[in-house]
Amino acid sequence: MQNNLSKLFRIQRFLNDIKYPDAYRIAREISEYLNIKKRSNEVEIFKRLHLEEPWEYVRGSVIFCNNEFKISKDTLIPRIETEQLVYECKEYIEKNGIKNIVDVGTGSGSIVISLASLLKDNIPYSFYATDISKEALKIAKLNGKKILKTKKVRWLTTNLIKSVPKFDGPTLIIANLPYIPTEQYEKLEKSVLRYEPRLALDGGEDGLQYYKELFEQIKAKELNCKSIYIETESSIFKESKKLIKKYFPNSKVRGIKDCFNKERFLKIEL
Ligand SMILES: C[S@@+](CC[C@H](N)C(=O)[O-])C[C@H]1O[C@@H](n2cnc3c(N)ncnc32)[C@H](O)[C@@H]1O
Repeated sequence: MQNNLSKLFRIQRFLNDIKYPDAYRIAREISEYLNIKKRSNEVEIFKRLHLEEPWEYVRGSVIFCNNEFKISKDTLIPRIETEQLVYECKEYIEKNGIKNIVDVGTGSGSIVISLASLLKDNIPYSFYATDISKEALKIAKLNGKKILKTKKVRWLTTNLIKSVPKFDGPTLIIANLPYIPTEQYEKLEKSVLRYEPRLALDGGEDGLQYYKELFEQIKAKELNCKSIYIETESSIFKESKKLIKKYFPNSKVRGIKDCFNKERFLKIEL
């Protein structure tokens, strides 16, 4: 007991010294991790954190919607804000008889796997997830195997929704694509620039490069798409709305704030 407390105190002091955010919570997580992973070394962990590597990459996993997801240098660290997107979509799917769910740019698979585990078993949903990164999809597949008991996700390595098949029933597309304008991306904190994949974050000059292409693909395909939920950010929220209206002039668009009260999600009913 005494040993554990002095270890916790030591970790907390180290995190405070390097000004690591949320030091109190992270110190507890590191202490628990060291208790479970007997072979891991406190000094090694301190070295990596000192180099500004996010704790989630050191641990190799993150808790998202109450499940533990494996992550790697090829996947973004799923953010807590995105959990809200999952809960909004779950409610929409259940109320609107959605049968097919497509998660575009799935990364570690956090959105589609969380939805699959939250939705009831008695409805035969089809779950699809795409990513252009083969390496990210490898991690997503492992997460699917570990977290999902009966439901299956079909994983596609493809550019946005290029190889997603045509569906019969009503379809929901969810996309958390790279949306940070390049100039803003280049000014992000070192922990992001050094460790998180640029492919997951840099949305091109205006941050909208991927959403433009996704909307073009949706228009060109007959997917039976009833609605689209996207994640974006407040600095490009107005432009994101304009873009949606340009591609889908008759759609009903609703902005949704995240848990930090920032404009973050857009719901598009076609
Ligand atoms: C912001 S991350 C989101 C990851 C995950 N959905 C989440 O919420 O944590 C964007 C993801 O889009 C993928 N991506 C980038 N360009 C893509 C493209 N052209 N087609 C499909 N996926 C792409 C990246 O590899 C990355 O996994």
